[in-house]
Amino acid sequence: AHQWRGVIREYADRLPVTESTQVITLGEGGTPLVPAKALSELTGSRVFLKVEGMNPTGSFKDRGMTMAMTAAIEAGAKAVVCASTGNTSASAAAYATQAGITCAVLVPDGKISMGKLSQAIAHGAELLQVNGNFDNCLDVARKLAEAYPVFLVNSVNPARIEGQKTGAFEVVDVLGDAPDYHLLPVGNAGNITAYWKGYKEYSEPYSNPHLVGDSTVLPPVATKRPVMWGFQAEGASPLVKGHPVTEPDTIATAIRIGNPASWDQAIAARDESGGLIEAVTDQEILEAHRWLSAREGVFVEPASAAGVAGLLKKHAAGLAPVDKTIVITVTGHGLKDPQWALKAADGSDVEPTKVDFDVVSVATALGLEGTA
Ligand code: F0G
Repeated sequence: AHQWRGVIREYADRLPVTESTQVITLGEGGTPLVPAKALSELTGSRVFLKVEGMNPTGSFKDRGMTMAMTAAIEAGAKAVVCASTGNTSASAAAYATQAGITCAVLVPDGKISMGKLSQAIAHGAELLQVNGNFDNCLDVARKLAEAYPVFLVNSVNPARIEGQKTGAFEVVDVLGDAPDYHLLPVGNAGNITAYWKGYKEYSEPYSNPHLVGDSTVLPPVATKRPVMWGFQAEGASPLVKGHPVTEPDTIATAIRIGNPASWDQAIAARDESGGLIEAVTDQEILEAHRWLSAREGVFVEPASAAGVAGLLKKHAAGLAPVDKTIVITVTGHGLKDPQWALKAADGSDVEPTKVDFDVVSVATALGLEGTA
């Protein structure tokens, strides 16, 4: 049977690699594009979820990390560093382990989920909890990589963007063309940058600048590009406000970012695609999180639901696209930060029902009719 070979081998002709590149991979990518039945019914559009929680470490970061770690090894790196709200660090730690090199991660103290923290520790990363937010961590990580022998694997590293653009390729390969709209959460803005790059490259003739002397020009795969709709958490929405936010705050800790590194690229993706970047509240994020779990069967972490929150918000305002193809990236797995599932819509704790171990008690608790 054919096994998916990871994004570098599957898309080698469109990535900065050659035949002699030593590929560091955990088999990332090839994630499901799941039809969202309830969202499609609600909006009258064909809505799909690109379920990135299915990657090896449970988030879309693995697409970029395979490429960043491969580039780091090619450059002779012995150690990598990243700043993270949790998913990048989990991914960097896993891929560094696969590569056999050291990984240092800087995370905002007390502001990353237990699942993500556990991953970095399990993979043996040098984990430093910084007394500051993500933006402070990234600032230090950049300075560290400039002055010391460590290789930066945040998305300011172009290799990360190259790897992550494969998400767009997969969407087009499955649908047969680009969707009309692509929605996603926006934090440090690497992913919106990468998707837009991927969609652009797939809609034009492409020759790989990395393959020196190779004149092969690949024909366009898509006939069009989507309109990009990005959504930030309201308390951490610098791109919406038009200026950095010094004290970003949201329950969606993955996107608790006040000064995105790929600011200009995110604005370019918005404007070149005729799209928008807007904010959704924490409550809207949690409603979308519940919608995905309870109505689509897809369990995500809160930040991952921001794109769906955006669609629900637009629909409520009568502004959602109708009779269009819409893809929404849900970026990370629900098991990363499961506590939110145990809160009811009114904020109260969900208490599982306890029963005695006999069939009548269980049937009664389930409200079943009949006699045992
Ligand atoms: N969703 C999740 C689950 C994330 O972890 C992130 C970013 C985003 C969305 C936003 O993506 O930054 O490319 O705009 N997480 C980074 C991290 C910052 O450190 O794990 P973006």
